[in-house]
Amino acid sequence: MRVAVFGAGGGIGGALIDALLADAEVETVYGIARAAPEPISDPRFVPLGADLTDEAKLAEMAGTLSDAGPLDMVIVATGLLSDGDGLQPEKSWRDQSLGAFERIFAANTFGPALVAKHMLPLLNRKTASRFAVLSARVGSISDNHLGGWHAYRASKAALNMLVRNYALELARRNERAVCVSLHPGTVATDLSAPFTGRGGRELFSPEDAARALLGVLSGLGPADSGKHFDWSGKEVPA
Ligand SMILES: NC(=O)c1ccc[n+]([C@@H]2O[C@H](COP(=O)([O-])OP(=O)(O)OC[C@H]3O[C@@H](n4cnc5c(N)ncnc54)[C@H](OP(=O)(O)O)[C@@H]3O)[C@@H](O)[C@H]2O)c1
Repeated sequence: MRVAVFGAGGGIGGALIDALLADAEVETVYGIARAAPEPISDPRFVPLGADLTDEAKLAEMAGTLSDAGPLDMVIVATGLLSDGDGLQPEKSWRDQSLGAFERIFAANTFGPALVAKHMLPLLNRKTASRFAVLSARVGSISDNHLGGWHAYRASKAALNMLVRNYALELARRNERAVCVSLHPGTVATDLSAPFTGRGGRELFSPEDAARALLGVLSGLGPADSGKHFDWSGKEVPA
């Protein structure tokens, strides 16, 4: 199995790579981060550098990956919620700003869309190949009872819509393919830390989240494509 993981430097992305490399059936894992990760002793790990919003770089990378053969799985584990420097989830409509919308949507929606543009064509057309993006339950419109976090929620809701679109298009190329968004649960990473407090309420470790997400992904079939699932395999309503 040949796999590409975007967000290799992130908490969940890094744990996904470790879990994949622990699987003897995995031949190659491309680990993609803004700054290419350090190589490791396992030759199956191939570190690459790309910013998701740099389409020229993504196109160049797609050329390199395509020369090496089709991909069996692509996981987009990137995302942005806050930056510790003024970018904060909004509590009210009064807190909204164009700059924050642009940054959050670039990372959570437009970037994954560009990855889809350049990676979906590389998926193996003869096998049950998979494309998954990490979304968030707070992107569910029908499940939103608290409000707030306007840009993040909206960026993930839009991402889920794109995943639905890609699933419909992908099925015309390969009826066995699966394209889904996944909610990892609340996981102890840099992204969640400002809102959960490390060691506060019970959180998933990135390792447990990665194991759970890979288990969910391997159990999904074409009838599940286009949907949003949580770490336990339960569908998250749109
Ligand atoms: N942790 C949670 O509790 C939780 C809950 C629900 C959903 N999620 C989702 O799970 C995903 C992974 O989150 P995480 O918790 O693992 O967060 P994380 O540790 O902060 O990792 C996020 C990664 O995204 C990368 N990234 C952001 N913008 C990028 C860009 N333009 N180009 C390339 N890479 C970019 C960051 O790269 P740099 O290292 O270069 O900044 C970072 O490695 C996100 O989509 C998040 O919304 C997480």
